[in-house]
Amino acid sequence: MNMLEILYHKRDGGKLSKEQIDFFVSQYTKGAIPDYQASALLMAIFFRDLDREETYWLTRAMMESGEILDLADIPGIKVDKHSTGGVGDKTTLIVGPLCASCGVPVAKMSGRGLGFTGGTVDKLEAIPGFQTTLSQERFRQVVRETGICVIGQSQGIAAADKKLYALRDVTATVDNKGLITASIMSKKLAAGSDGILLDVKCGQGAFMKNLEDARKLARAMVEIGKTAGKQTAAFVTDMSQPLGRAVGNASEVMEAIRTLRGQGPEDITLLAKTLAGYMVFMGGKASSHEEGMKKVEDQMKNGGAVRKLKEMILAQGGDGGVVEDFSLFPQPAFRAELKGEETGFVESIRADVIGSASQISGAGREKKEDAIDLSAGIYLQKKVGEPVEKGETLAVVFGNDREKLSLALEKARLAYDIAEKPVKAPELIKELIC
Ligand code: URA
Repeated sequence: MNMLEILYHKRDGGKLSKEQIDFFVSQYTKGAIPDYQASALLMAIFFRDLDREETYWLTRAMMESGEILDLADIPGIKVDKHSTGGVGDKTTLIVGPLCASCGVPVAKMSGRGLGFTGGTVDKLEAIPGFQTTLSQERFRQVVRETGICVIGQSQGIAAADKKLYALRDVTATVDNKGLITASIMSKKLAAGSDGILLDVKCGQGAFMKNLEDARKLARAMVEIGKTAGKQTAAFVTDMSQPLGRAVGNASEVMEAIRTLRGQGPEDITLLAKTLAGYMVFMGGKASSHEEGMKKVEDQMKNGGAVRKLKEMILAQGGDGGVVEDFSLFPQPAFRAELKGEETGFVESIRADVIGSASQISGAGREKKEDAIDLSAGIYLQKKVGEPVEKGETLAVVFGNDREKLSLALEKARLAYDIAEKPVKAPELIKELIC
């Protein structure tokens, strides 16, 4: 087999065979195919697309390019969750402890943030002492003993995706449904859980800007998961404005803790209950989604959810005191307020622009190696649909670098649109695909 033939074939609209896909993935992973040929194939795929079978073969080949975890020695039905990424998305920090407190084990590997989206691992590192790198043995032990462990993505999982994702990032080939499906599902299938719940984001701040595209991506991923023999479902949810009010690492963990106590913002509370309730159902601890939601709500009310988070923090070497005392989190030296310039109603808050403002404040990275200011970020006092008076605070920007804060403030100003007439907040949960 040769790479040039594969390139001609896909460029001209042909269907790739399993053998061609296996050849490309295995040879590229071991460095036998150069980046320029891989880039050409990615671009051909971008324009010609992958059909169902090609997507499945690519997913499998990428999954098999690295380590495949077997979690069979952990009792119970393990359910994993994946969000396609967004701004202010701290749901893993809420959904994980909610599920574990209902008896569904969560063995989760999460990523770091890059660009304007945040990563769960960075958020967790805002907890003093918290270890996101654990040995496989310790990872399993923590799940067995506390019912939950969240660590950084193992370097060995889906090795092909690491190389391909980095290449897609610099060749304008990230936002293709087949490639996104194979990238996400190869990692989820290799991570060893019995069930997978996907949160497919839709809107300005997401890869999929409209409902139809988000729906297609969700369907493709659910189909791949089921074909691979895993229980799989997806919710399509809104990402036209940031999720919750806090954006930035330490401040998102604080918001997650408030939400676990039942005192969080309405949108993130609804999303967390919806996702966790479904995972409890998938994990066999409820006979319906509704019953699952009721169970997680009980854990919010009776303190079980926040206790579970504390147990996880302690098991992973962190300071469990943060759950009661927010002054233990890294604190920003400076704050600046964004004031409204007119009276009316918040019409829109562009999630991508708030994400960039948060990144500028110091909360995010531009390059993988960049250090982040864990205390930095933005708090949205006003969200879509809420009334605002001229001179009232729309958002607060915070961090340790005064200059960065003034740039972040100017950026955040561009995110807000104010209308004269009342505006309806966007519908958060759009669809369940299962
Ligand atoms: N997240 C991933 O892991 N891969 C993609 O391709 C897109 C989002």
